[in-house]
Amino acid sequence: MLEGRRIVLGVAGGIAAYKAVEVCRRLVDGGAHVVPVLTRGARRFVGETTFSALASERARTSLFDDPDPIPHTRLGQSADLVLVAPATARVIGTYAAGISNDLLTATLLATEAPVVVCPAMHAEMWRHPAVQDNIATLRRRGVHVVEPEEGRLAGGDVGQGRLAEPATIVAAVESVLARGRDMAGLHVLVTAGGTREPIDPVRFIGNRSSGKQGHALAAEAAARGAKVTLVTTAALPVPPGADVVRVETAAEMDEAVRAVAPAADVIVMAAAVADFRPAAAATTKIKKDKGVPEIVLEPTVDILAGLGRTKRPDQTLVGFAAETEQLRQNAASKLVAKGADLIVANDVTAPGAGFEHDTNHVVILNADGTEREVPLADKRAVARAVFDAVLDGRS
Ligand code: PMT
Repeated sequence: MLEGRRIVLGVAGGIAAYKAVEVCRRLVDGGAHVVPVLTRGARRFVGETTFSALASERARTSLFDDPDPIPHTRLGQSADLVLVAPATARVIGTYAAGISNDLLTATLLATEAPVVVCPAMHAEMWRHPAVQDNIATLRRRGVHVVEPEEGRLAGGDVGQGRLAEPATIVAAVESVLARGRDMAGLHVLVTAGGTREPIDPVRFIGNRSSGKQGHALAAEAAARGAKVTLVTTAALPVPPGADVVRVETAAEMDEAVRAVAPAADVIVMAAAVADFRPAAAATTKIKKDKGVPEIVLEPTVDILAGLGRTKRPDQTLVGFAAETEQLRQNAASKLVAKGADLIVANDVTAPGAGFEHDTNHVVILNADGTEREVPLADKRAVARAVFDAVLDGRS
């Protein structure tokens, strides 16, 4: 897995920098071409000669003392993966803020390769909301985080903050490289967000879907090399590499989905589509002084069920089921009723899961009767698990 892969190993200034030496050795032993990049802080803990001796190229330390006038872009562009171990609070914060103030942070901003970040710091620093927010930001952008472990820290304190063991870090690198661009050649259609069904020009029937889960799915598929079309109601940033179609109502979403579906290999309906809409939206604002209005509802089109009826045998159709009770039973019924291959059962009452959160907790039910649970994790990690299940079913 590591054979011939070019890995930039970023080492930041923490007491755990000595463990990066072992990480470097294991990567080289596995056949990787390792280029170490040391921050000024790192060099206070471990000498660059050590890394130069063990790695595949000499250690780099500065944007300015390299014969190459733009070492960060060269390093970033040529890398198959950038690993930062240990990653200090400073490097994590600088990277999350998009600031380049040394060779390592410049390389992180200049790369489109997968990035694995292995934080190490004192337990209080790791728990600080600023650090946790920065980690959440990086995760949302698709950065892989190898969590620090519990144990003895510098100064004799004990808590979570120790750099993960070298074997764990190398295993994470191997797993990220294995996933690589495993969705290249697939066209993935994802829907996201809650639909809005107009009552009048200023009011609508809506729901609490933020679009975060759907956008995370689109970002994950694009990062894994798929061509992605995202049909969304959410005003969230466009995931890099995805084509976006903005819609508002269930009918508009249905039209946009049906236009793309025949060309799609994988369709994921993460959107919260309204089941009912006002039968006739008023053309002018309904006035309060006319009394309480009677709003007659009619069913909307069931987009997923329509896709299930017209599905090609080589297409993979994934639904979501937002449930508040009898999670597996209700989701399994929807899997069958809508003709999907997979359904992502989402208990939207579970802590930290469902609407609006950055995290989710789901069970992926397969039409073949198997299931896999994804414990509470950020929505990008849930997206990763959904596409792993999709690819398993297509292999
Ligand atoms: O957007 P977030 O804030 O990140 O929240 C994520 C989420 C909770 C919205 C998401 O994880 C989720 O569960 N999405 C499905 C919401 C939903 O509408 O569930 P449902 O059980 O009502 O619908 C079942 C399936 O049928 C869904 O795939 C839905 O897209 C589809 N459907 C529903 C109604 C309809 N008229 N047409 C449809 O295609």
